[in-house]
Amino acid sequence: MGRLDDKVAIVTGGASGIGRAACELFAQEGAAVVVADLDAERAEQVAAGIRKEGGRALAQGVDIAEEAAIQAMVEACVAEFGGLHVLFNNAADTRIETLSRDGSIENMDIEVWNHALAVDLRGPMLCAKHAIPHMARAGIGSIINTSSNQSLAADLSQSAYGVAKAGVNALTLFIATQCGHQGIRCNTLSPGMILTPAVKRACPQEIQDEVRSHSPVDRLGEPEDLARAALFLASDESGYVSGQTISVDGGQLAHLPHFAYMRRTSSTVTLQEER
Ligand SMILES: NC(=O)c1ccc[n+]([C@@H]2O[C@H](COP(=O)([O-])OP(=O)(O)OC[C@H]3O[C@@H](n4cnc5c(N)ncnc54)[C@H](O)[C@@H]3O)[C@@H](O)[C@H]2O)c1
Repeated sequence: MGRLDDKVAIVTGGASGIGRAACELFAQEGAAVVVADLDAERAEQVAAGIRKEGGRALAQGVDIAEEAAIQAMVEACVAEFGGLHVLFNNAADTRIETLSRDGSIENMDIEVWNHALAVDLRGPMLCAKHAIPHMARAGIGSIINTSSNQSLAADLSQSAYGVAKAGVNALTLFIATQCGHQGIRCNTLSPGMILTPAVKRACPQEIQDEVRSHSPVDRLGEPEDLARAALFLASDESGYVSGQTISVDGGQLAHLPHFAYMRRTSSTVTLQEER
Protein backbone atom coordinates (compact mmCIF):
# COMPACT_ATOMS: atom_id res chain seq x y z
CA MET A 1 0.00 0.00 0.00
CA GLY A 2 1.35 3.41 -0.97
CA ARG A 3 0.67 6.50 1.10
CA LEU A 4 -0.84 8.25 -1.96
CA ASP A 5 -2.69 5.34 -3.60
CA ASP A 6 -5.68 6.60 -5.64
CA LYS A 7 -4.44 10.20 -5.51
CA VAL A 8 -3.71 12.41 -8.51
CA ALA A 9 -1.12 15.14 -8.01
CA ILE A 10 0.20 18.12 -9.95
CA VAL A 11 3.69 19.28 -9.02
CA THR A 12 4.69 22.60 -10.58
CA GLY A 13 8.41 23.08 -11.12
CA GLY A 14 8.53 19.29 -11.26
CA ALA A 15 11.49 19.08 -13.63
CA SER A 16 14.17 20.08 -11.11
CA GLY A 17 15.25 20.18 -7.47
CA ILE A 18 12.54 19.90 -4.84
CA GLY A 19 9.77 19.45 -7.42
CA ARG A 20 11.54 16.58 -9.13
CA ALA A 21 12.19 14.81 -5.81
CA ALA A 22 8.51 15.24 -4.92
CA CYS A 23 7.30 13.89 -8.29
CA GLU A 24 9.43 10.78 -7.85
CA LEU A 25 8.43 10.21 -4.22
CA PHE A 26 4.71 10.83 -4.84
CA ALA A 27 4.80 8.34 -7.73
CA GLN A 28 6.62 5.74 -5.60
CA GLU A 29 3.83 6.16 -3.04
CA GLY A 30 1.15 5.38 -5.61
CA ALA A 31 0.07 8.79 -6.94
CA ALA A 32 -0.46 9.57 -10.60
CA VAL A 33 1.70 12.66 -11.11
CA VAL A 34 1.65 15.56 -13.54
CA VAL A 35 5.21 16.85 -13.85
CA ALA A 36 4.49 20.47 -14.77
CA ASP A 37 7.29 22.84 -15.68
CA LEU A 38 8.35 25.74 -17.87
CA ASP A 39 11.01 23.38 -19.19
CA ALA A 40 8.80 20.85 -20.98
CA GLU A 41 11.74 18.76 -22.18
CA ARG A 42 13.14 18.18 -18.70
CA ALA A 43 9.62 17.56 -17.39
CA GLU A 44 9.28 14.79 -19.98
CA GLN A 45 12.59 13.28 -18.83
CA VAL A 46 11.35 13.17 -15.23
CA ALA A 47 7.97 11.71 -16.27
CA ALA A 48 9.67 9.10 -18.47
CA GLY A 49 11.91 8.09 -15.55
CA ILE A 50 8.84 7.60 -13.34
CA ARG A 51 7.06 5.52 -15.99
CA LYS A 52 10.18 3.41 -16.45
CA GLU A 53 9.99 2.53 -12.73
CA GLY A 54 6.35 1.45 -13.18
CA GLY A 55 4.76 4.69 -11.96
CA ARG A 56 2.13 6.89 -13.61
CA ALA A 57 3.30 10.29 -14.85
CA LEU A 58 2.42 12.90 -17.46
CA ALA A 59 4.72 15.76 -18.46
CA GLN A 60 3.09 19.13 -19.03
CA GLY A 61 4.77 22.33 -20.18
CA VAL A 62 3.38 25.32 -18.26
CA ASP A 63 4.29 28.89 -17.48
CA ILE A 64 2.60 29.69 -14.18
CA ALA A 65 2.64 33.38 -15.10
CA GLU A 66 -0.06 32.56 -17.71
CA GLU A 67 -3.59 31.74 -16.55
CA ALA A 68 -4.53 30.01 -19.82
CA ALA A 69 -1.52 27.69 -19.53
CA ILE A 70 -2.48 26.84 -15.94
CA GLN A 71 -6.04 26.05 -17.01
CA ALA A 72 -4.67 23.79 -19.77
CA MET A 73 -2.41 22.04 -17.24
CA VAL A 74 -5.33 21.26 -14.91
CA GLU A 75 -7.51 20.12 -17.82
CA ALA A 76 -4.74 17.83 -19.11
CA CYS A 77 -4.40 16.33 -15.62
CA VAL A 78 -8.11 15.62 -15.28
CA ALA A 79 -8.37 14.27 -18.84
CA GLU A 80 -5.44 11.88 -18.28
CA PHE A 81 -6.03 10.74 -14.70
CA GLY A 82 -9.73 11.49 -14.05
CA GLY A 83 -9.38 14.04 -11.24
CA LEU A 84 -7.06 16.09 -9.06
CA HIS A 85 -6.43 15.69 -5.31
CA VAL A 86 -3.00 17.20 -4.61
CA LEU A 87 -1.43 20.42 -5.89
CA PHE A 88 2.18 21.01 -4.92
CA ASN A 89 2.67 24.68 -5.82
CA ASN A 90 6.44 24.45 -5.96
CA ALA A 91 7.53 26.45 -9.04
CA ALA A 92 9.18 29.83 -8.65
CA ASP A 93 11.63 31.77 -10.77
CA THR A 94 14.89 30.74 -9.10
CA ARG A 95 17.13 31.63 -12.06
CA ILE A 96 20.29 33.47 -11.11
CA GLU A 97 19.59 36.07 -13.84
CA THR A 98 16.34 36.89 -12.06
CA LEU A 99 17.50 36.72 -8.45
CA SER A 100 20.67 38.74 -9.10
CA ARG A 101 18.52 41.67 -10.29
CA ASP A 102 16.31 41.50 -7.19
CA GLY A 103 18.14 43.77 -4.75
CA SER A 104 17.14 46.28 -2.11
CA ILE A 105 13.83 48.16 -1.98
CA GLU A 106 15.68 51.45 -2.52
CA ASN A 107 17.03 50.23 -5.87
CA MET A 108 14.08 48.10 -6.94
CA ASP A 109 13.42 47.81 -10.67
CA ILE A 110 9.65 47.73 -11.11
CA GLU A 111 9.90 45.02 -13.77
CA VAL A 112 11.75 42.76 -11.36
CA TRP A 113 9.14 43.42 -8.67
CA ASN A 114 6.21 42.75 -11.01
CA HIS A 115 7.79 39.59 -12.40
CA ALA A 116 8.42 38.14 -8.91
CA LEU A 117 4.84 38.79 -7.89
CA ALA A 118 3.44 37.46 -11.19
CA VAL A 119 5.34 34.17 -11.05
CA ASP A 120 6.01 33.48 -7.37
CA LEU A 121 2.71 34.70 -5.87
CA ARG A 122 0.06 35.10 -8.57
CA GLY A 123 1.17 31.80 -10.16
CA PRO A 124 0.39 29.64 -7.10
CA MET A 125 -2.86 31.54 -6.57
CA LEU A 126 -3.99 30.80 -10.15
CA CYS A 127 -2.97 27.15 -9.88
CA ALA A 128 -5.07 26.88 -6.71
CA LYS A 129 -7.97 28.73 -8.35
CA HIS A 130 -8.16 26.16 -11.16
CA ALA A 131 -7.46 23.13 -8.96
CA ILE A 132 -10.06 23.88 -6.27
CA PRO A 133 -13.22 23.02 -8.29
CA HIS A 134 -11.85 19.53 -9.08
CA MET A 135 -10.82 18.93 -5.46
CA ALA A 136 -14.22 20.16 -4.28
CA ARG A 137 -15.91 17.72 -6.66
CA ALA A 138 -13.86 14.87 -5.16
CA GLY A 139 -14.57 16.17 -1.62
CA ILE A 140 -10.86 15.95 -0.80
CA GLY A 141 -7.80 17.97 -1.62
CA SER A 142 -4.43 19.12 -0.36
CA ILE A 143 -2.75 22.25 -1.66
CA ILE A 144 0.87 22.63 -0.63
CA ASN A 145 2.36 26.04 -1.27
CA THR A 146 6.08 26.74 -1.19
CA SER A 147 7.44 29.90 0.37
CA SER A 148 10.91 30.44 1.80
CA ASN A 149 12.52 31.42 5.07
CA GLN A 150 13.07 34.74 3.27
CA SER A 151 9.34 35.27 3.81
CA LEU A 152 9.77 34.96 7.57
CA ALA A 153 12.98 36.95 8.07
CA ALA A 154 14.43 39.66 5.84
CA ASP A 155 17.62 39.85 3.84
CA LEU A 156 19.72 42.60 2.23
CA SER A 157 18.60 41.53 -1.23
CA GLN A 158 15.87 39.47 -2.95
CA SER A 159 13.23 41.80 -1.58
CA ALA A 160 10.66 41.10 -4.30
CA TYR A 161 11.10 37.33 -3.97
CA GLY A 162 10.78 37.49 -0.16
CA VAL A 163 7.67 39.68 -0.27
CA ALA A 164 6.07 37.44 -2.91
CA LYS A 165 6.80 34.41 -0.71
CA ALA A 166 5.32 36.19 2.33
CA GLY A 167 2.21 36.62 0.20
CA VAL A 168 2.23 32.86 -0.35
CA ASN A 169 2.04 32.34 3.43
CA ALA A 170 -1.05 34.56 3.51
CA LEU A 171 -2.52 32.85 0.43
CA THR A 172 -2.38 29.59 2.38
CA LEU A 173 -4.45 31.08 5.21
CA PHE A 174 -7.12 32.29 2.79
CA ILE A 175 -7.37 28.98 0.91
CA ALA A 176 -7.44 26.95 4.13
CA THR A 177 -10.15 29.19 5.57
CA GLN A 178 -12.32 29.35 2.47
CA CYS A 179 -12.04 25.73 1.30
CA GLY A 180 -11.97 23.65 4.47
CA HIS A 181 -15.70 22.94 4.22
CA GLN A 182 -15.08 21.40 0.78
CA GLY A 183 -12.61 18.89 2.23
CA ILE A 184 -9.62 20.90 1.00
CA ARG A 185 -6.61 21.60 3.21
CA CYS A 186 -3.85 24.07 2.44
CA ASN A 187 -0.40 24.44 4.02
CA THR A 188 2.92 26.08 3.21
CA LEU A 189 6.37 24.56 3.27
CA SER A 190 9.07 27.13 3.95
CA PRO A 191 12.47 25.75 2.95
CA GLY A 192 15.77 26.90 4.42
CA MET A 193 18.81 26.43 2.18
CA ILE A 194 18.25 23.26 0.17
CA LEU A 195 21.00 21.93 -2.09
CA THR A 196 19.06 22.01 -5.36
CA PRO A 197 20.48 22.93 -8.79
CA ALA A 198 19.25 26.51 -8.21
CA VAL A 199 21.23 26.89 -4.99
CA LYS A 200 24.31 25.11 -6.27
CA ARG A 201 24.33 27.52 -9.24
CA ALA A 202 23.68 30.69 -7.28
CA CYS A 203 25.34 30.24 -3.91
CA PRO A 204 29.13 30.28 -3.38
CA GLN A 205 30.54 27.63 -1.02
CA GLU A 206 31.46 30.23 1.63
CA ILE A 207 27.81 31.33 1.89
CA GLN A 208 26.66 27.71 2.06
CA ASP A 209 29.16 27.15 4.93
CA GLU A 210 27.98 30.29 6.72
CA VAL A 211 24.32 29.25 6.46
CA ARG A 212 25.21 25.77 7.71
CA SER A 213 26.88 27.33 10.79
CA HIS A 214 23.43 28.70 11.71
CA SER A 215 21.69 25.37 11.36
CA PRO A 216 21.12 23.38 14.57
CA VAL A 217 20.79 20.26 12.39
CA ASP A 218 24.40 20.38 11.20
CA ARG A 219 23.92 20.15 7.44
CA LEU A 220 22.12 21.90 4.62
CA GLY A 221 18.87 20.48 3.27
CA GLU A 222 18.41 18.04 0.41
CA PRO A 223 15.46 18.09 -2.03
CA GLU A 224 14.23 14.84 -0.43
CA ASP A 225 13.81 16.65 2.94
CA LEU A 226 11.14 18.81 1.29
CA ALA A 227 9.68 15.96 -0.73
CA ARG A 228 9.09 13.93 2.45
CA ALA A 229 7.42 16.90 4.19
CA ALA A 230 5.26 17.42 1.08
CA LEU A 231 4.36 13.72 1.08
CA PHE A 232 3.05 14.04 4.65
CA LEU A 233 0.97 17.10 3.72
CA ALA A 234 -0.30 15.42 0.53
CA SER A 235 -1.37 12.25 2.33
CA ASP A 236 -4.36 11.67 4.57
CA GLU A 237 -1.91 11.35 7.50
CA SER A 238 -2.04 15.15 7.75
CA GLY A 239 -5.85 15.21 7.59
CA TYR A 240 -6.17 17.61 10.54
CA VAL A 241 -3.34 19.95 9.49
CA SER A 242 -4.41 23.06 7.59
CA GLY A 243 -3.43 26.72 7.35
CA GLN A 244 0.12 26.12 8.58
CA THR A 245 3.49 27.41 7.44
CA ILE A 246 6.08 24.79 8.27
CA SER A 247 9.78 25.61 8.01
CA VAL A 248 11.91 22.75 6.74
CA ASP A 249 15.27 24.28 7.56
CA GLY A 250 17.09 22.22 10.18
CA GLY A 251 15.97 24.75 12.81
CA GLN A 252 17.66 27.80 11.27
CA LEU A 253 14.96 30.19 12.39
CA ALA A 254 14.57 28.63 15.82
CA HIS A 255 17.41 30.36 17.64
CA LEU A 256 18.83 33.69 18.76
CA PRO A 257 21.43 35.46 16.60
CA HIS A 258 24.45 34.55 18.80
CA PHE A 259 23.88 30.80 18.21
CA ALA A 260 26.59 30.33 15.56
CA TYR A 261 29.21 32.17 17.62
CA MET A 262 28.41 30.20 20.78
CA ARG A 263 28.61 26.91 18.91
CA ARG A 264 31.85 27.81 17.13
CA THR A 265 33.56 28.86 20.36
CA SER A 266 31.88 26.22 22.56
CA SER A 267 30.77 29.10 24.82
CA THR A 268 27.92 28.92 27.25
CA VAL A 269 26.09 31.77 28.83
CA THR A 270 27.40 32.29 32.36
CA LEU A 271 26.83 35.07 34.83
CA GLN A 272 29.76 37.49 34.78
CA GLU A 273 31.29 38.24 38.18
CA GLU A 274 30.37 41.67 39.38
CA ARG A 275 33.28 44.02 39.04
N1 LIG B 1 16.48 25.49 -2.82
C1 LIG B 1 16.33 26.31 -1.80
O1 LIG B 1 17.25 26.53 -1.00
C2 LIG B 1 15.01 27.01 -1.58
C3 LIG B 1 14.90 27.84 -0.46
C4 LIG B 1 13.70 28.48 -0.24
C5 LIG B 1 12.63 28.29 -1.10
N2 LIG B 1 12.78 27.49 -2.19
C6 LIG B 1 11.63 27.33 -3.07
O2 LIG B 1 11.46 25.96 -3.40
C7 LIG B 1 10.89 25.86 -4.71
C8 LIG B 1 11.74 24.95 -5.59
O3 LIG B 1 13.04 25.47 -5.67
P1 LIG B 1 14.29 24.63 -6.22
O4 LIG B 1 15.46 25.06 -5.44
O5 LIG B 1 13.94 23.19 -6.28
O6 LIG B 1 14.44 25.28 -7.68
P2 LIG B 1 14.89 24.67 -9.10
O7 LIG B 1 15.43 25.84 -9.88
O8 LIG B 1 15.75 23.47 -8.93
O9 LIG B 1 13.50 24.24 -9.74
C9 LIG B 1 12.53 25.19 -10.06
C10 LIG B 1 11.73 24.67 -11.24
O10 LIG B 1 10.66 25.60 -11.48
C11 LIG B 1 10.55 25.77 -12.89
N3 LIG B 1 9.94 27.07 -13.17
C12 LIG B 1 10.52 28.30 -13.06
N4 LIG B 1 9.66 29.24 -13.46
C13 LIG B 1 8.51 28.61 -13.83
C14 LIG B 1 7.28 29.05 -14.35
N5 LIG B 1 7.05 30.35 -14.60
N6 LIG B 1 6.33 28.14 -14.62
C15 LIG B 1 6.55 26.82 -14.42
N7 LIG B 1 7.72 26.33 -13.92
C16 LIG B 1 8.69 27.23 -13.64
C17 LIG B 1 11.99 25.71 -13.40
O11 LIG B 1 12.03 25.40 -14.78
C18 LIG B 1 12.57 24.61 -12.53
O12 LIG B 1 12.44 23.33 -13.13
C19 LIG B 1 10.77 27.30 -5.24
O13 LIG B 1 9.47 27.77 -4.95
C20 LIG B 1 11.78 28.05 -4.40
O14 LIG B 1 11.47 29.42 -4.29
C21 LIG B 1 13.94 26.83 -2.46
